[in-house]
Amino acid sequence: MDILGISCYFHDAAAAFLRDGCLVAAAEEERFTRKKHDYAFPQHAIDFCLRVGSIRAADLDYVVFFEKPFVKFERLLLSSLQTFPRSHRVFREAMVTWLTDKLWIKHLIQRQLGVPPSKILFSEHHLSHAASAFFCSPFEEAAILTVDGVGEWTTASLGIGKGTEIKLLKEIRFPHSVGLLYSAFTAFLGFEVNEGEYKVMGMAPFGTPRYIDKVYKLIRIDRDGGFELNMDYFSFHCSTEQTFNGKFLQLFGPPRDPQAHFFTPSTGYPSYFGEKPPNFGELGKQNQHYADIAASIQAVTEEILLKMAQHAHKETGLKRLCMAGGVALNSVANGRILRETPFEELYVQPSAGDGGGAIGAALYAYHMVLGRPRKFSMEHAYWGEEHSAGEIEKFLKEQGIHYQRCEDEEKLIERVVDGLQAGKVIGWLQGRFEWGPRALGHRSILADPRRADMKDLVNVKIKFREPFRPFAPSVLAERAEEYFVLPEAARHYPARFMLYVVDVREDKRHVIPAITHVDGTGRLQTVHKELSPKYHRLIETFGQATGVPVVLNTSFNLKGEPIVNTAQEAFHTFTRSGMDLLVLGEYVIEKPAGSC
Ligand SMILES: [Fe+2]
Repeated sequence: MDILGISCYFHDAAAAFLRDGCLVAAAEEERFTRKKHDYAFPQHAIDFCLRVGSIRAADLDYVVFFEKPFVKFERLLLSSLQTFPRSHRVFREAMVTWLTDKLWIKHLIQRQLGVPPSKILFSEHHLSHAASAFFCSPFEEAAILTVDGVGEWTTASLGIGKGTEIKLLKEIRFPHSVGLLYSAFTAFLGFEVNEGEYKVMGMAPFGTPRYIDKVYKLIRIDRDGGFELNMDYFSFHCSTEQTFNGKFLQLFGPPRDPQAHFFTPSTGYPSYFGEKPPNFGELGKQNQHYADIAASIQAVTEEILLKMAQHAHKETGLKRLCMAGGVALNSVANGRILRETPFEELYVQPSAGDGGGAIGAALYAYHMVLGRPRKFSMEHAYWGEEHSAGEIEKFLKEQGIHYQRCEDEEKLIERVVDGLQAGKVIGWLQGRFEWGPRALGHRSILADPRRADMKDLVNVKIKFREPFRPFAPSVLAERAEEYFVLPEAARHYPARFMLYVVDVREDKRHVIPAITHVDGTGRLQTVHKELSPKYHRLIETFGQATGVPVVLNTSFNLKGEPIVNTAQEAFHTFTRSGMDLLVLGEYVIEKPAGSC
C-alpha cells in the first residue's frame, strides 16, 4: 500500500511517502527549490519521495492532500465579506489565486501526477496536524493538542488518539487564533510572519514581561484554555499586508524597524555589527522596550498553552500528550508543559508546522480511512535526500576542488574534533537531510561550545545573526542530564528534535557558555547512538578529548536561505562564509588559514 501525502499553498509545502504504513521519505519543497518556506505545489519533494520509493506516481494507491481547499475558501470568502469593503484586497486576491489555482488541487494532482480522481483523498487541516503527531508517536493512547495560525476554520483543537482512531473533541475557530496573535507581534517586532516567530521567542529572555496587562487587552482567556481575540486590534482578517492596526499601535507604540540592529544595554553592542553608533545608549533602551514586548507575548502564549494542556489533561485523564501545529514549535512553551502540567510524556514530531501535514494526511488515510494497523513511530528526523560518496567525489573532481578522503571514520572524527578544539567552525553534511526546520547533525555547522566568544565568532563567520538567536547544543543522550535539567532526558522525544528549552545546570553554565542562553536555558538536542551513530561518535570523541560531550550545532545555511541539501550547496555556502573546514560524508575540504 503506497500513499503519498502532500501539503502546500500556505507555508512550507512538503511531501511524504508511506509504504505499508511506514514512512519511507519526507521533505519540504524549499530544500530542492532553495526558496525559503516555498509553499508552491511540491513537485520536487514529490519526485524525491517517488525516487526513494522506486515507484511511479501512476502506481500510487492513494494521494492525500492535507486540508480541504473548498472549506478554506469558504472561510476566506465569508470572513472577507463580513469586513467588506475594508477587505476588498483580500477578497480580490483570494478570488484570483483561489479560482485560478488553489481550489482545483484535485485536478492539479491528477494532471501533475497522472493519478485518477478516485485515488485522491482529502484530510482536514487540524486532523492532519493531529495525525502527524499521534500516529508518529509511539503512544497507544494520548491527548492531542493542535495549535496554529489557521487551517480551514480551526485554529486550535483538542482531541484523543487511541489505536488507529483520532477523535477531535473541541476546537477554536478563526479569527480567534494564538498563532495569528503571535504572528501579529512577530510583524510588529520587525520580523517576517511565519519565519520570524522563533526570533521573538529568542528575543523574549532579554526582556521583562512588563506588558502582560496590555497583551491581555487583545485576548480573553478562559480557565479551560479557550480564548477570544479582541478584533478591534487586528487587521489580519481584512488585510493582506497588515496583521495589526492603529489601535494596536496606540497600545504598544511604533513598530520596530526591521532593518535596525537588535542589542540591549545588557548585551552591549556586538562587534560584528560594525562601528558603534553615537546614540547607541538610546538605541539600546529602545530595543529593551521591544524585548519587553517580546517577553510579554511569549509569557501570555505560554500561559495559554499551559491552560490548554491542563484542560486537555483534565478532559482526557491521560498521561501522554501529542502536539502539532506551528505553535508546537515553541520549544520554551513545550518545556513548561512538560514541567508544569500533569502530563508525563510529550510527543512533537520535528516538522510540527504545516509541512508536517503531509505525513499527517498520509497516516490519516492509512489508519482512519483504510483502517490499517499502526506499526510506525518516528524515532528520528532523517527522512530527506542522501548523496553517495560517488556523487560527492564526482562533484569535487569536476569542480577541481582540493579535498582529502578519510575513509577511516575514526580518523575523520579525530580530525573534526581537533578542528573544533582549535576553534574552527565546521560544516558537517552526512546522510539524509532532516525533516523539519531544525538541523540535527546531518546538515549542521559545528563549533566548540566551551568558548564564550564562540557565539560571536560563529555569528561573524557564518550567520551575521543577532544576539537573540542563540545556538543550540547537541549532547550525548546518555549524558544529557549532567548538563541539563531534564530528568530521564534520553526518553523524551521532543529533546531528540530540539523542541524543548530547559535549564542548563547551574554548575555547567560556565562550562558551555556558547550555548547557554541569557536566562540560563538551552535548547538541547539529545543524540542517540543507535539513531545517529556517526554524529554520536563525533560528540563522544569530543567529550573524551575535552571532558564535555556537547557540541554547538546550528543549521547549515546562511541568513535567509534554506538549509543545504547537496554537496554543491554545502560547498557554495562554505565558500561564501568564514567556515574553516567542510566535511561532506568522508571528504574533507579545508580553507587555507586566513582565507575567506
Ligand atoms: Fe497549520
